[in-house]
Amino acid sequence: MEQPKREIILSGIRPTGNLHLGNFYGALRKFVQIQDAHDCNFFVADLHALTTATDPEALHANVKNVLAEYLAAGIDPEKATIFVQSDIPEISEMYLLLNMHVGIGELMRTAAFKDKARKCLGLSGECDDSDEAFEHQIIGGDTNKRVCAGLLTYPTLMAVDILIQKATKVPVGKDQLQHLELTRRFARRFNSFYHVDLFPEPTDFDFGGAPVKVPGLNGSGKMGKSEGNCIYLIDDPKVIRKKVMRATTDEGPKEPNSPMSEPVANLFTLLELTSTPDVVKHFRDAYADCSIRYGDLKKQLAEDIVAVTTPIRDRITDILANEEYLRKVVRDGAERARARAADTLAEMRQIMGIRPL
Ligand code: TRP
Repeated sequence: MEQPKREIILSGIRPTGNLHLGNFYGALRKFVQIQDAHDCNFFVADLHALTTATDPEALHANVKNVLAEYLAAGIDPEKATIFVQSDIPEISEMYLLLNMHVGIGELMRTAAFKDKARKCLGLSGECDDSDEAFEHQIIGGDTNKRVCAGLLTYPTLMAVDILIQKATKVPVGKDQLQHLELTRRFARRFNSFYHVDLFPEPTDFDFGGAPVKVPGLNGSGKMGKSEGNCIYLIDDPKVIRKKVMRATTDEGPKEPNSPMSEPVANLFTLLELTSTPDVVKHFRDAYADCSIRYGDLKKQLAEDIVAVTTPIRDRITDILANEEYLRKVVRDGAERARARAADTLAEMRQIMGIRPL
């Protein structure tokens, strides 16, 4: 009997460091929840990392780390296809082909490009569209600093990751929605230019419910890699306790039922993710009647985080020690991912007129 057509899901993480609690709740844990019902493909975007990372040893180590972290979080290579981007040479070839239909103007207007290019050039502050210093420096200006072409074509490469698998659903964070929009535009443009129906237009995967927000420890916004702001899945309990105890708070509520400052609200959000409802209620009540002691809240939060991360950390250690297993996972994954990639690339070459004589 024919199976109903399953949605093809694809997502990637750049191997620029270890994964943290934000990656776990925001991505990995959700990937695990959907891997049974869909055709899931999760990969390590090492070619993308090359746009900003230049230390070969660190890059190589981080590819392994991210793989181990994917697996330790519960992504199952029997259910999902797990692979390393550079193991699929078809991606690099399609990147060349697709670039012929991508405008340098649209790439230069991408927000992520402007941000990262400004960092490369050592320009500080927010970018704005009329920034002449930026425009001047980016074409060489009077400086010997460079913005690499790979950074400019980052969206092409990302579109290729998605389109080469003909993925239809792409779970990404808010900061990646513009890249996904470009991917749709490139797909549409290619299809209409050659009068074909080769690429489906991918959309963000809707997990239902409100997006999970994982705040950092330094009182501001979301958990990111900056020092003291994030808890890595591989942090040991001592490190976790130290980081949590140093988290930003305020002077404490002075009147019953006062509104919460952002740093304190952030700690409650983390507690909600990692603890039980009665513990959360206990501390909320204590905040409301001004009896709360942030030290107690932090101690509790640290222990709850340790309880979540310890089994993951143990698995990461085991997996990293088993090179044979890691190699098998990526070999099998690459085989599956390449099969589909090779089909798409062959169709694309044919369509574009790159054909054997
Ligand atoms: N650009 C993504 C990020 O930085 C990583 C990525 C690369 C990706 N290729 C992708 C995500 C394809 C989804 C699909 O987070």
